[in-house]
Amino acid sequence: MRTPLIAANWKMNKTTVETENFIRSFLPLIKGTTGVDIIIAPPFTSLLSAAILIRATGVRLAAQNVFYEEKGAFTGEVSPVMLLDTGCSFVIIGHSERRQYFSETDEIVNKKIRTVRKNGLEVILCIGESLKEREDNKTFEVLDRQLSGSLDNITLDGITIAYEPIWAIGTGKTATPGQANEAHSFIRKWLDKKYGDIACKTRILYGGSVTPENVDSLMAEPEVDGALVGGASLKPDSFAKIVTGATKK
Ligand code: PGA
Repeated sequence: MRTPLIAANWKMNKTTVETENFIRSFLPLIKGTTGVDIIIAPPFTSLLSAAILIRATGVRLAAQNVFYEEKGAFTGEVSPVMLLDTGCSFVIIGHSERRQYFSETDEIVNKKIRTVRKNGLEVILCIGESLKEREDNKTFEVLDRQLSGSLDNITLDGITIAYEPIWAIGTGKTATPGQANEAHSFIRKWLDKKYGDIACKTRILYGGSVTPENVDSLMAEPEVDGALVGGASLKPDSFAKIVTGATKK
């Protein structure tokens, strides 16, 4: 039995004051909600203020990125140790925007996962195909390549996978529940082949235009264990509705 997980990826949005306002409005909306794990991933600059406000709640904190060294002359980068220091327990790695705009390869993703796991943070590993790759029937080939490269020499504990088809991110074009479940089933089988029985414990989230309106039908699929939510996580009421929707699983 996998507990549903709903994660908010705010991307490059919200100042510290906006973060605090969100959390103050959001917490009462989810008060008493059980049966779902909740994560918020604000920008680096808001992590500390978020950590202070969610400290006594079940909501967990994630960073949206990390560097693969622990310290040193890497101007502008943030290490896993620093993320732990701000109160993070998760980090999103390999988001398609990082792959696209910051040239992150599976090799870099793999190095990041290694350092992050060594330091005890949990990982949300993002994978997913582009529209062209889907149209060329290469979805499974892409997922296979991303999983093989990213998880090379990595044990599965502390890893959550987020399947995020690039064509569905920020476009309002959600994968159908069937498309999501098909990709998730492929991922589950891939994990099972590499890791054996423990793979049934790994959560596989769907990401790409998840909203309060479509979360129920996505979560109804057997292999969809939660969601990584961008745009619809920026407003407290919308994100709270998605969280509550996930409890029906
Ligand atoms: P979206 O973003 O919900 O705005 O499509 C999801 C993501 O990029 O994680």
